[in-house]
Amino acid sequence: MSSSPYSCCCCWVKILLSLVVLVTWGCLEGANGASSTVKVSNISKIEGAMNFHLYYGQTFKVIKNVVDGKSYLLIQNNSRMATRTKYCTSRIKSFVIPLSNFSADTYFFPVSFFELLGMLESMKGITSDSVASECALKLYERGETEMINRSDPRLFAQFSAHFVSDTDQTQACNFANFAPFGEDYPLQRAEWIKFLGVFANLESRANQVYGTVRDNYLCQAKVAANKTRTFKPIVAWMEYYNGIWSFTKETYKLKYVEDAGGENIDNSINKITYNVSNADDLDELHAILCTVDVVIDETYTLDPAEYNQSTFLQNVNVEDNSCFAFLTNQSLWRYDKRVQNSTALDWFDGAVSQPQLVLADLIEAIFPTGNYTTKYFRNIAKGERIISIGANMCDRDISIPMEPTILACQ
Ligand SMILES: *[C@@H]1O[C@H](CO)[C@@H](O)[C@H](O)[C@H]1NC(C)=O
Ligand SMILES: *[C@@H]1O[C@H](CO)[C@@H](O)[C@H](O)[C@H]1NC(C)=O
Ligand SMILES: *[C@@H]1O[C@H](CO)[C@@H](O)[C@H](O)[C@H]1NC(C)=O
Ligand SMILES: *[C@@H]1O[C@H](CO)[C@@H](O)[C@H](O)[C@H]1NC(C)=O
Ligand SMILES: *[C@@H]1O[C@H](CO)[C@@H](O)[C@H](O)[C@H]1NC(C)=O
Ligand SMILES: *[C@@H]1O[C@H](CO)[C@@H](O)[C@H](O)[C@H]1NC(C)=O
Ligand SMILES: *[C@@H]1O[C@H](CO)[C@@H](O)[C@H](O)[C@H]1NC(C)=O
Ligand SMILES: *[C@@H]1O[C@H](CO)[C@@H](O)[C@H](O)[C@H]1NC(C)=O
Ligand SMILES: *[C@@H]1O[C@H](CO)[C@@H](O)[C@H](O)[C@H]1NC(C)=O
Ligand SMILES: *[C@@H]1O[C@H](CO)[C@@H](O)[C@H](O)[C@H]1NC(C)=O
Repeated sequence: MSSSPYSCCCCWVKILLSLVVLVTWGCLEGANGASSTVKVSNISKIEGAMNFHLYYGQTFKVIKNVVDGKSYLLIQNNSRMATRTKYCTSRIKSFVIPLSNFSADTYFFPVSFFELLGMLESMKGITSDSVASECALKLYERGETEMINRSDPRLFAQFSAHFVSDTDQTQACNFANFAPFGEDYPLQRAEWIKFLGVFANLESRANQVYGTVRDNYLCQAKVAANKTRTFKPIVAWMEYYNGIWSFTKETYKLKYVEDAGGENIDNSINKITYNVSNADDLDELHAILCTVDVVIDETYTLDPAEYNQSTFLQNVNVEDNSCFAFLTNQSLWRYDKRVQNSTALDWFDGAVSQPQLVLADLIEAIFPTGNYTTKYFRNIAKGERIISIGANMCDRDISIPMEPTILACQ
């Protein structure tokens, strides 16, 4: 699969040896904290994310992806190693940093991480204009970003790195896998900003953004924990596909509910799928829905603008819905509020880098104040419509890093 123009039997020995040296060196650096030449603010330490590790040397850094076992050797452009060393094997790739430009596989990629770091203008190539970022669309409209055919990996050689989230494709030497979606919890996903920061020597910015996002998230979770009454409201994430309803098993969604002060439907119910053409299944689904206070309908649709409460009821196919508290109380939500051209949901972009906003949305859904405008969730029980993202909505200076939105929290 991976092309390996630099590998041969003797190179392998060299590569393995140097990696051992690099990683050992990196570990020592890590253990001692900052060395004399690398300032602490230029080092990112991973707190919660499980799927990548960082090691620092004097003139290089190593990112190790724990899931696919691949390592990226990032070499400072002003070091001698930068001109001498180049790796491209199935396990080790090298990059010269700071990157002067890069491309991203925007077919599926959360570009909001680049915006928070202030790197968006260096994103010179994209693979799709189906992007949920106003400002990325604006750069493309202005001709500052080029569209590249993703079926031909060679076309990306013109960029210093090509970032991909969908790793099911042929990878050239400068491809780097960005995998926040593999983490279990919302804050772990957000911490992947440190992965991208490392490529641009933007560790201090990455640390700062992650720190504020984390503190705001934890503060809101603490306040939400206090809102609980006798019983926690029950929240169900559910999805209809091919005649079948199922409840989510995704850990990060369940975690959001817990942190927002709600309760997930029981695991025993969770496991089961419900075929709406089967009368017994339908009865069971009906009974479960009678116990739920808040529903998040995750059903995929080609046209989010047209999906409303009637669509949900049609899919549920229950005649008598008088016991559905989430309807009486108008708490039926979808996460497709911000969408670009019906295809790209900001739920898979901005919501990944700023989980504190998702948590705030969910707290409003569970404990409504009527005082807070949700960002990613819309309440279809109240007829709330989608917001269509367009380049004309980019109203900030793109050359300056985007600030995370920090919500009032005591
Ligand atoms: C290294 O990167 C910095 C920042 O992009 C740039 O200013 C500098 O000219 C580069 N140095 C070399 C030797 O390429
Ligand atoms: C992209 O490349 C593939 C394979 O090279 C080709 O079949 C396809 O037509 C190209 N698409 C566009 C839009 O150029
Ligand atoms: C990206 O940066 C590299 C290295 O500085 C340069 O050679 C290349 O021309 C740049 N590519 C684009 C598309 O700007
Ligand atoms: C290290 O961080 C400091 C402070 O944020 C910054 O001024 C400096 O340019 C950084 N150095 C490198 C090599 O990235
Ligand atoms: C939780 O509620 C208690 C009693 O109402 C109060 O004393 C405490 O300060 C609250 N804690 C937070 C974090 O809001
Ligand atoms: C759902 O049930 C109907 C009727 O029993 C059956 O024909 C259909 O294949 C089932 N669907 C799935 C996906 O199992
Ligand atoms: C949902 O949309 C359909 C088609 O646009 C419309 O006929 C229906 O009245 C809408 N239902 C609600 C509850 O808004
Ligand atoms: C509706 O919500 C309110 C508070 O938000 C709660 O007190 C009430 O019990 C709910 N009603 C139903 C039918 O669940
Ligand atoms: C929206 O997507 C469709 C097909 O997916 C495409 O033909 C159309 O040009 C896109 N419109 C905009 C404004 O991007
Ligand atoms: C709404 O916000 C205002 C001002 O921030 C506050 O005074 C009021 O108590 C809030 N209302 C509710 C229901 O939370």
